[in-house]
Amino acid sequence: MNIRENIPIKDLTTMRLGGPARFVIAIEHAEECTEAFGFVKEKGLPFYFLGAGANSLGLDTGFDGALILNQIKGIEILQESENVLIVKAGGGEIWDDFVQFVVSKNFSGVEAMAKIPGTVGAAPVQNIGAYGQEAKDTLESVEVYDSLLDEYKEIMAKDCDFAYRHSIFNSGKDKGRYFILSATFKFTEHQLKQPFYNSLQAYLDEHHIADYSPKSVYDAVAEIRKNKLPDPAKEASAGSFFKNIILDEPPKNKDIPYRETKDGKFKVNTGWLLENAGLKGKTFHGFKVSDKAALILINESGETYEDLQRAVTEIQKIIKDKYGLALEPEPVKIEAD
Ligand code: EPU
Repeated sequence: MNIRENIPIKDLTTMRLGGPARFVIAIEHAEECTEAFGFVKEKGLPFYFLGAGANSLGLDTGFDGALILNQIKGIEILQESENVLIVKAGGGEIWDDFVQFVVSKNFSGVEAMAKIPGTVGAAPVQNIGAYGQEAKDTLESVEVYDSLLDEYKEIMAKDCDFAYRHSIFNSGKDKGRYFILSATFKFTEHQLKQPFYNSLQAYLDEHHIADYSPKSVYDAVAEIRKNKLPDPAKEASAGSFFKNIILDEPPKNKDIPYRETKDGKFKVNTGWLLENAGLKGKTFHGFKVSDKAALILINESGETYEDLQRAVTEIQKIIKDKYGLALEPEPVKIEAD
């Protein structure tokens, strides 16, 4: 366990915003949780869990508490046969390293989530997804440290209340309670199920790719993302900044494209709304709506969270006025609950 004091949150998050965190505690081994949470509780501090900082936003006032960094590594095969692969990965593993491992075993289930920034431990929290795959589809269980009861336990996927970008880890009464030590996934397929997500199929057709093996789909998605999404080393962003909008009924404005989801809801492409409102490439208070993928806000010269808040409010108002729909940010503020 490594404890540092007064660390700028800006340096720990990909959007590169935020004042100092009073303590930053890095956890490399699950057993260190007892000591780490003992320290935090003794001081009566609030805490916030951080992986790669790809979906968290630091406030200008910083965080008067402890950021608990998940640096638990390791990828372990629990079961492997021709038809089944069960893999357990440490919460601090880089998500894409885990995806590449599964792809190298020629199993399908996470290859369409190639190159999503972040860690394995963050994947179940917001049930990450791309091109028709979601973490919940192959996740079996997670091992956690329960910070309320100070005990280690296992939670099965069916008890995580997964939905679009939603789980017990980011919503409801248990939000922020469980520190994810490892996640176990079970794979039984060797090829992504058709029909594929439209934009993925369009890319494969356009490039005359008829090989739908995990490796081939992984490479295609990696290429799409490379062309579309900012490279975190060069441009600061938090991935998709706005969530797609989930409605109970189809949008009233007939121009707005949407997809019916498996659970009978209607998903509106927020990227389309932003693009058709003419916002691509426009900069608000130092934050640019990416000209390649409208859901992404790039921090070009924004200095403060307040700048970001102003930008978001203006963008939300434009979309509300034009389409009557409310945009919701996907990244989470680093603050006490
Ligand atoms: N679209 C536009 N303009 C844009 C972007 C999108 O018109 O600039 C429209 C198009 O109609 C396009 C449709 O939106 O066909 C869907 O776009 P895309 O497939 O690019 O995906 P997305 O809805 O913009 C979501 C996820 C991404 C994920 C992709 C692919 C959210 C918030 N974002 O974006 O996840 O990679 O689907 O499945 O759900 C992330 O979370 O960081 C992320 C990148």
